Amino acid sequence: MEDKKIYFDNNDTTPMVEPVFNAMKPYFMENFGNPASLHEYGLEAEEAVGKAREDIANLINATPEELIFTGGATEANNLALFGLARMAPEKKRHIITSKVEHHAILNTVKRLGKEGFKVTFLEVDREGFVDPDDLKKAITPETFLVTVVHGNHVVGTVQDLNALGQICRDSGVLFHTDAAQSFTKVPLNVKDTPIDLISLNSHKIHGPKGVGALYMRKGVKIGRLMEGGPQENNRRPGTENVPGIMGFAEAARIGIAQQEENNQHICKIRDRLLDRLLEIPHTHINGPQGDKRLSTNANITFLYIEGEAILMHLSMRGVFVSSGSACSSIALQPSNVLTAIGLKHEEAHGSIRFSFSKLNTEEEVDIAVGHMHAVVDQLRSMSAFIPEEHSEIEGKGTTFYKKKKDEF
Ligand SMILES: Cc1ncc(COP(=O)(O)O)c(C=O)c1O
Repeated sequence: MEDKKIYFDNNDTTPMVEPVFNAMKPYFMENFGNPASLHEYGLEAEEAVGKAREDIANLINATPEELIFTGGATEANNLALFGLARMAPEKKRHIITSKVEHHAILNTVKRLGKEGFKVTFLEVDREGFVDPDDLKKAITPETFLVTVVHGNHVVGTVQDLNALGQICRDSGVLFHTDAAQSFTKVPLNVKDTPIDLISLNSHKIHGPKGVGALYMRKGVKIGRLMEGGPQENNRRPGTENVPGIMGFAEAARIGIAQQEENNQHICKIRDRLLDRLLEIPHTHINGPQGDKRLSTNANITFLYIEGEAILMHLSMRGVFVSSGSACSSIALQPSNVLTAIGLKHEEAHGSIRFSFSKLNTEEEVDIAVGHMHAVVDQLRSMSAFIPEEHSEIEGKGTTFYKKKKDEF
């Protein structure tokens, strides 16, 4: 086991940073009040939550009344979709989404499908983009909601919210986006963007886990998912996670203040990693290149080997990444995103996601790249997936790839 740990799984979650932790600390033991209480402790907590709400709302140019705190982006997605579905008129029971959504959307719309809603899953192109024309064609008089993820969690594609949202607005259809991966990384301004609901979370931006928010444009109405007290303007009952909200607000303030410099730094190290890994034969990048990709994301397919094997070997060397499969109870299913962009089953299985944060360094990239070359060589030398015509060639692994590199 290596001493130095290199964490390249920041699309999964990020480490908390000190200022965020400091912002939370007083709300565990000293200012522990319940924002609903009428005494001093309660008022103090209510004021702190109000300030956090105002700050996060300001960061996306919304008003505090338009923000509901939730237990993360999964809950925000559920609240948006089920909440809107509860209010949908009898003749408006059609939802449109894409094939590259996170399971927090996919499984929610599937459930709504079982409850009698009609669901359309839009195709995406090879880079993961939804074609606005496809959306236009899919909208019918029965459509009440379109939900398309902003920044993709697997391949980093950043959808054109303006184009998609404008189509929805012109058709009188509500538009929601899951911005769990893009918040603080891609500019988001609700005054300039035709969007009605946005899901946000905190733990992808160096904030605490288990807290997030749903932005809902003034005038949008949702039904309640849970019964209880009147918190969050009667839309989400339960005592607010005060320390979590404090941490979320601080993480969001820092993330937006540092947006440009963080993106520059992260893009630089991401591109360094991509350049060096794409030198390995039989590899290709998944998702778009350039500024239509989240700075934080690199996804590469390494043909003829299993992503899980790469992941485990890297993990033993102290490098942490994720693979292109989603573990289910009975089988390793390839990611819905990778199959939606057209990868074959075996290509999806050979895919690795490297995802970065401002805390990563070029030095870490260089170390990880060294490990990657060694792991790929080792696994390919043992691979049973290398086509028969290649298997007779000397060594199959390193030697084979070095010798045959020019042939591909
Ligand atoms: C696009 C997207 N949506 C939703 C979620 C779920 O967020 P949370 O863990 O806050 O529930 C994630 C987390 O991986 C995500 O990447």
